[in-house]
Amino acid sequence: MDDQAAVNFLKENNARHYWHPMADPKASETDPPLILTKGDGFQVWDVDGKPYLDLMGGLWNVNVGHNRTEVKDAIIAQMDQLSYHNTFAGLANAPSIELSVKLTDMMAPEGMDKVMFGSGGSDANETAFKLARQYWKLMDQAEKVKVFSLKNGYHGMQFGALSASGGIVWRRAYEPLMPGFFQIDNPDPYRNPWTDDGQELGRICAGILDREIQHQGPGTVAAFIAEPIQGAGGMIIPPDNFWPLVREVCDKHDVLLIADEVVTGFGRSGALFGSRGWGVKPDIMCLAKGINSGYVPLGATAFNARVAAAWERDHPLATIMHGYTYAGHPLACAAAVANLDIVISENLTANAGLVGAHFLGRLEELKDRHQVIGDVRGKGLMLAIEFVKDRTTKEPFAPNDPFIKALGPACLERGALVRVQGHRMVLSPPLIFTNEAVDEAFEALDGAIAAVAPN
Ligand SMILES: Cc1ncc(COP(=O)(O)O)c(C=O)c1O
Repeated sequence: MDDQAAVNFLKENNARHYWHPMADPKASETDPPLILTKGDGFQVWDVDGKPYLDLMGGLWNVNVGHNRTEVKDAIIAQMDQLSYHNTFAGLANAPSIELSVKLTDMMAPEGMDKVMFGSGGSDANETAFKLARQYWKLMDQAEKVKVFSLKNGYHGMQFGALSASGGIVWRRAYEPLMPGFFQIDNPDPYRNPWTDDGQELGRICAGILDREIQHQGPGTVAAFIAEPIQGAGGMIIPPDNFWPLVREVCDKHDVLLIADEVVTGFGRSGALFGSRGWGVKPDIMCLAKGINSGYVPLGATAFNARVAAAWERDHPLATIMHGYTYAGHPLACAAAVANLDIVISENLTANAGLVGAHFLGRLEELKDRHQVIGDVRGKGLMLAIEFVKDRTTKEPFAPNDPFIKALGPACLERGALVRVQGHRMVLSPPLIFTNEAVDEAFEALDGAIAAVAPN
């Protein structure tokens, strides 16, 4: 096959045997996906050789950028030694041990003491839920089994993770979901029925959690899980007081606090961990994505000393009857060690804060220029633009509105790869992003919105 024939083969065969996540298979035929063939730094190239700024950062995970020699070398070096073996009882490998030390060092301020590995974010959360239930059984409080979470939260797509996820659009086709999972109102400063005052909103939503736990009975609730910043739900940034108040509510009712740091972990929000940004120490932290920038699938769940202590008890249920074939995968862990070295040595957390502030400033300019923008927000390199038909009523555009459907392609045309989710555009470039790249992104977004917005 010559080069053009190979390109045509890919384009013609994409929809023939292949169903994509989060897509209607019919749409993959009529509206074929962008086929990417190359990445370097914060750029990617499609099969026709056109370059794009990667404003998705892969899927908010390629934090150190594409094609990093240090990460590739670490994977190859590990492949030369041992590509795979399992880590079930009785076996271990060097990079997973090294990574467990590195992670607990990085999360020492949060008091994390033990880690378990999986292959991604959903795995990390499943592990958290199962071990939270096991924890209470080991503590002889076997009725504490329920998991509370926030409406609009995203925790992944496996049954447990989906049961905790609060977006109706993700849940409807797969219901009924797992019993014992309940969602309460999330603090959304832009869209809530109560108040424009952030502190008040934080108190109201923490109060709802408090009352719901009280109502159902603290003796039945194992854990509360939330993202420090709701990512897939539209970059919803809670008020400063929300997480500290949630920690108080959890302590009051003896409920474990799980931070889903799958997106916010390792610098994206401008703090090394999202919880640290809010000044809160969770009991369990769920990690994936930026842990190794997506070079090989990996997730991890970390437990503090309080939780870990339950496994020191002599109990018939103390064995961890949970784990995955790819837990502690040597290539994934070797990639993570190299990746985290870059995050620290290049101070990408600080860069996310600085470049993110510049990006937010430019989004404010976009809002001044386009009436269809109702809100822009961001913390570090987690940013969003919310599109509305009317700024006063905040009526959102429907996901199938011609404007919304045209936005992604119009950005691509101008060299920007973005994620449009319903009436929002979320932006999460690699943490190596620069102010100059932000300015380039601004031109692409400004041109795209001007070209396709109504009026
Ligand atoms: C906060 C959060 N948790 C969990 C997940 C699920 O991770 P994965 O897709 O790796 O299973 C995601 C994915 O985007 C996420 O954003």
